[in-house]
Amino acid sequence: MEFPVVSILLLACFVYLNTNNIVLSVHAVESPQYTVIHSDSDFQIRLYKESWWVSAFVRGTSFLNSTKAGFHRLYQYMHGANLNASQFAVTAPVLTSVSPLADGSAYFVRMYLPVNRSPPQPKSELNIQIDTWRSHCVAVRNFTGFAKDDNVNKEAEALADSLNKYFSGNTTAPQDKTSYTIAQYNASRHLTGRLNEVWMNVSRFSGEGCPT
Ligand SMILES: *[C@@H]1O[C@H](CO)[C@@H](O)[C@H](O)[C@H]1NC(C)=O
Ligand SMILES: *[C@@H]1O[C@H](CO)[C@@H](O)[C@H](O)[C@H]1NC(C)=O
Ligand SMILES: *[C@@H]1O[C@H](CO)[C@@H](O)[C@H](O)[C@H]1NC(C)=O
Ligand SMILES: *[C@@H]1O[C@H](CO)[C@@H](O)[C@H](O)[C@H]1NC(C)=O
Ligand SMILES: *[C@@H]1O[C@H](CO)[C@@H](O)[C@H](O)[C@H]1NC(C)=O
Ligand SMILES: *[C@@H]1O[C@H](CO)[C@@H](O)[C@H](O)[C@H]1NC(C)=O
Repeated sequence: MEFPVVSILLLACFVYLNTNNIVLSVHAVESPQYTVIHSDSDFQIRLYKESWWVSAFVRGTSFLNSTKAGFHRLYQYMHGANLNASQFAVTAPVLTSVSPLADGSAYFVRMYLPVNRSPPQPKSELNIQIDTWRSHCVAVRNFTGFAKDDNVNKEAEALADSLNKYFSGNTTAPQDKTSYTIAQYNASRHLTGRLNEVWMNVSRFSGEGCPT
């Protein structure tokens, strides 16, 4: 089962013909900017700048299937299905935010928009929206391989456990293990050397210089 991001990331590589030699140039893929404000043995806390995302809601029971379904709608937006017919180059990571519903899960699949003001609105038939994220802190745990239904929960639990240990005493509410975001950086054609992350908002914790 190939994740469709494959074909997109391939487009990011161009071969330029120079007058004298051929140069293989890897077009830089844009990503949201952050600074690391804390590093631990198995997680980081990052402060992300304000950012814009295009976001597709999918109600479902499978992380993988819902990510694919959302990705397909976002791909169309990036390729001109917006009110300005703007084209966006591929960005990374692709996010899937997961939160439980009484029946199944709510998934928001998101792509980063490399703009510094309000981006164009999506065509209404795509049923997607623009999200503005104000500057905020995110705890991040990385993992390799493919992100899939049978490992994302475990990675999220491991991050929540690390955070509960680290922040013990500073908060009465334990970190919710059932709501999290998976960030995927690589096309599915890359079978090794893959980078994924679990993200959890930590804005409600004090003592790290995070906006609350
Ligand atoms: C993975 O996380 C660890 C702990 O935060 C960090 O030291 C390491 O650099 C990270 N690796 C990558 C590829 O981001
Ligand atoms: C995910 O999609 C595959 C292929 O379409 C399907 O066989 C499978 O039942 C789906 N899984 C869930 C949990 O919906
Ligand atoms: C959309 O296009 C119009 C006309 O070219 C321009 O004035 C406007 O700033 C664009 N809006 C966005 C969100 O890019
Ligand atoms: C994380 O925080 C940002 C900024 O407050 C917010 O827009 C976003 O919805 C939060 N993400 C999740 C998954 O709760
Ligand atoms: C996967 O993406 C990460 C982050 O962009 C990058 O450092 C790594 O080299 C990529 N892996 C492969 C196999 O391209
Ligand atoms: C916990 O709270 C104390 C007092 O407010 C603060 O000094 C410390 O940095 C906090 N620790 C963490 C991990 O936030």
